[in-house]
Amino acid sequence: MDRSKRERSPRLTTRLGRFNELLAYAEIGSTNSELISRARDGAVDGLVVTADHQTGGRGRLGRTWSDVPGKALLVSALVRPEAWSIGSTELPLIPLAAGLGVAQAIHDVCGVVVDLDWPNDVLVDERKLGGILCESTGSGGRVDAVVIGIGLNLGRVSIPDELRREAVSLDELCGPVGRDELLDAVLDRVQAECESLAADAASVVGAYRGRCVTVGREVAVATCRETISGRAADISASGSLVVVLSDGSSRSISFGELE
Ligand code: BTN
Repeated sequence: MDRSKRERSPRLTTRLGRFNELLAYAEIGSTNSELISRARDGAVDGLVVTADHQTGGRGRLGRTWSDVPGKALLVSALVRPEAWSIGSTELPLIPLAAGLGVAQAIHDVCGVVVDLDWPNDVLVDERKLGGILCESTGSGGRVDAVVIGIGLNLGRVSIPDELRREAVSLDELCGPVGRDELLDAVLDRVQAECESLAADAASVVGAYRGRCVTVGREVAVATCRETISGRAADISASGSLVVVLSDGSSRSISFGELE
């Protein structure tokens, strides 16, 4: 089958819960791009797009995210904040809630305890098991939809050679993992954490702090304007990383990448 045909014909399945409609592609450019485009076209809250393989997978800060077909969990889930009673104050916490949900799902299915590196790299022993890319659409300063994109390495072969010392896959940690079982657990746990944001955002931030290995470390955080170096002191109520600089002053960073 040629590529355009594979991209055009996703398999539709349904499941219980808010994330109840799944479009499974054999191959696609990027599940996030597909879902953002569908969200702009009016897709309903809770739509999920998965793929066996991405030809243009995207990571944070414009990086590429590569995989080997069938050896990674590649999923994007659509959250329309209004439908979840998530207000503008809680919006920046969605990536943290997603990270927390992913960590819990991995523990449920594989018994593996993972760390979260702010904002939401999924690590085991300092090696990257997966990442999360949250993107939003809207107009006039209003966010209509948030796409939570999750990529997890399931099989060793999914890791490109140049990343083998920095990355890890689930099968190395706990043996072969059923992708559908993990997908189900991820969607359930991410749903629960996003629902908690409306009810009790402080408890989500508290749980996130408990998983986040960044706090207490010396860090250098690249933001769009500068790189800020210092000691990561806390995660604020709004999900920002609080960094104490060498002169004792502190900065609260809402968007950045650890170097
Ligand atoms: C990162 O660590 O930089 C985030 C990586 C996010 C990758 C996932 S895979 C599924 C979804 N589709 C994409 O194009 N990216 C995300």
